[in-house]
Amino acid sequence: MHTDAQPTAPVIEFRDVEKQFDDKTVLKDLSFTVERGERVTLIGPSGSGKTTILRLVMTLAELTGGYIFIGGEPLVYEQRNGKRVPVSKRQQKQLTTRIGMVFQQFNLFPNMTVLENIIEAPIHVLGIAKRDAIERAHQLLEQVGLPDKADSHPTALSGGQQQRVAIARALAMDPEILLLDEVTSALDPEVVVDVLQVLRDVAATTDVTMLIVTHEMSFARDVSHRVMMLDGGKIIESADPETIFTNPSHERTQQFLSAVLRDA
Ligand SMILES: Nc1ncnc2c1ncn2[C@@H]1O[C@H](COP(=O)(O)OP(=O)(O)O)[C@@H](O)[C@H]1O
Ligand SMILES: [Mg+2]
Repeated sequence: MHTDAQPTAPVIEFRDVEKQFDDKTVLKDLSFTVERGERVTLIGPSGSGKTTILRLVMTLAELTGGYIFIGGEPLVYEQRNGKRVPVSKRQQKQLTTRIGMVFQQFNLFPNMTVLENIIEAPIHVLGIAKRDAIERAHQLLEQVGLPDKADSHPTALSGGQQQRVAIARALAMDPEILLLDEVTSALDPEVVVDVLQVLRDVAATTDVTMLIVTHEMSFARDVSHRVMMLDGGKIIESADPETIFTNPSHERTQQFLSAVLRDA
């Protein structure tokens, strides 16, 4: 299946991506790459297309134009004899299995315990033995600071705790790519730091590639190798965090950052 895999290929590549909702074009001619192990943060105003980019990587949104490659392999469409043709469902599923996503609203399965939430996909998608999945789940719960919550139901947990379970659930799949979409935006301010600390630890202790959407600028500055500023579905600036946050070259970036930092 992965005979075309290129170890040196970017772990994510968008090539001339276009995204339309009905007749509204949200992303146009969007091309960028994320290297293996790189942590890239997308910033930009509401409606600029940040969530849409993550959802396209996760194949939760339909790709209406262009190509996305994961580790050099086409995710949704490929070019064959000059034509844009869909890849097999099997290939798509195999590639998305390597990607984890954490959402603003946690999206835990409400009818399952914390443990069941975490072991579900490793068992049913990866085929991991149940006792190994359980052992790993307990390790992950320890790692996110919730060692005694395995048998709780999500509704019995605070938002910050639910989000840490959601992170554990994503990590349980041992993803190559972790997508984080404003994972602290729905949380009470006093628990944001706990969730960000878990993610800082993941960044410090693993080489998982991260594509992050956040308004937490100090977090973005600390964990990102690169920050991409999005406006109107276009990347208007892409640079290391030091440059973006202290000396952005684009006036739109300056305006956006001063508005966000004023609100913080
Ligand atoms: N399911 C949808 N149907 C129609 N328009 C959508 C849908 N999802 C997003 N959009 C539009 O796409 C644009 C980008 O949205 P989004 O990616 O959510 O932006 P961001 O995450 O940067 O706030 C917005 O104009 C939004 O209204
Ligand atoms: Mg969004």
